[in-house]
Amino acid sequence: MAKTRKYLKRTVAVSAAALAAFALQPASAGAAEGPAGNGGVDTKIVGGTPAEEGEFPFMVRLSMGCGGSIYAPDLILTAAHCVDGSGPDDSITVTAGVNDLEDSNAVTAQSTEVTVAPGYNGQGKDWALIKIDKELDLPALNIAKDASFNEGDFEIAGWGADSEGGSQQQNLLKATVPFVDDATCGSAYGSSFIAEEEICAGLVGEGGVDACQGDSGGPMFRKDDNDAWVQVGIVSWGQGCARPDYPGVYTEVSTFAGDIEEAAAGLGS
Ligand code: ARG
Repeated sequence: MAKTRKYLKRTVAVSAAALAAFALQPASAGAAEGPAGNGGVDTKIVGGTPAEEGEFPFMVRLSMGCGGSIYAPDLILTAAHCVDGSGPDDSITVTAGVNDLEDSNAVTAQSTEVTVAPGYNGQGKDWALIKIDKELDLPALNIAKDASFNEGDFEIAGWGADSEGGSQQQNLLKATVPFVDDATCGSAYGSSFIAEEEICAGLVGEGGVDACQGDSGGPMFRKDDNDAWVQVGIVSWGQGCARPDYPGVYTEVSTFAGDIEEAAAGLGS
């Protein structure tokens, strides 16, 4: 218990920063806990369940309170709003290789440099690459290079809040969220939603399952035709968490695949 509480304290400031960075994030914490229409199973991420050991070996936790995915042995893909801009940066600790962040088997690495999406200004283009000081001996997550995977059911995972206004998690949680088309997402969010750069997912009209504060930067992914995981999104923002009429908004990875590749090359990978 004491351990958990200490961990929570560390992330409070970060959550506040993440909230401030996003106009659409209400600062209020509230309700939204409880059964998520999944038959009364104990619900987490929001509306998720614990990940199996080693199920998502490409998942990492970042010390500022975000998620990320292994793009290459020494590169982490995350959200632009999780980092401080491009350039040398040794402030970020990456925790990898475990579901339980307190697990002694955790592998840690330190950031050396960050590249934020060219033209990022707080709306859309919410991606960044973090170069780290060692090569992780863990599988990378391939990114979608075209729009063909931008449909169907997606997996999300993270150590973020398990309810709107809830606490960060010590153990990795996962959930499945269906694709939401641009028209539906646009009618929820108006001009805040940039269809060419963002992709939405969630249970519209129902709610209960979603990413939430602290999941930002983590991947949304699905299986490709060879049954391998492919990343289609990066957790970016939403109005609250798991609200029936507000799906989660994710960076549309396929749109930026070329830019991400270029940024990776620029970081010497
Ligand atoms: N911006 C949040 C963060 O920094 C992620 C919010 C995702 N919200 C959602 N409803 N899907 O962690």
